[in-house]
Amino acid sequence: MSFNKKLFFSSINQNGRTPQKVYDELNKEFNFDFDPCPKDPDFDGLTISWSSCNFINPPFKEQRLWIKKAYEESLKNKICVMLLPSRTDTRIFHDVILPYAYQIRFIKGRLKFQQYKNSAPFPSMIVIFKKKRKSIILKFLSVL
Ligand SMILES: C[S@@+](CC[C@H](N)C(=O)[O-])C[C@H]1O[C@@H](n2cnc3c(N)ncnc32)[C@H](O)[C@@H]1O
Repeated sequence: MSFNKKLFFSSINQNGRTPQKVYDELNKEFNFDFDPCPKDPDFDGLTISWSSCNFINPPFKEQRLWIKKAYEESLKNKICVMLLPSRTDTRIFHDVILPYAYQIRFIKGRLKFQQYKNSAPFPSMIVIFKKKRKSIILKFLSVL
């Protein structure tokens, strides 16, 4: 295995902070008013009600819970924009993201999360949950 397994699975790696450029681009488009899992939370983002337009880069360990929560919040007319590892082989991708996401943007290239020198060892995607969906929209973005 070529990457450092210990480092990759350590707790600090569960929390790769969003690259500023990625956040700024998305914020320009969506004008977020809430981050339910911020850098230093003083609330439990999984149990509170979210705001009208949310940006979510969830802790890696509990992604299923955050994806389900984002979907549930979208049913209350909220927009939830998630930055997630692009794992298209997972159950959550097939059970929740593919059937219910409004849009998925697959990112070409690997993101460099804020606190790391190197790019992530996994691809990323932006998943948008929004109440009104006719059919899913797929997009491809480049960070290169
Ligand atoms: C991947 S980091 C994202 C941080 C920041 N939102 C960003 O995009 O750079 C995930 C964050 O979720 C926070 N977190 C973990 N569990 C949480 C919870 N139950 N409620 C709120 N925040 C939580 C962690 O403290 C961590 O900072």
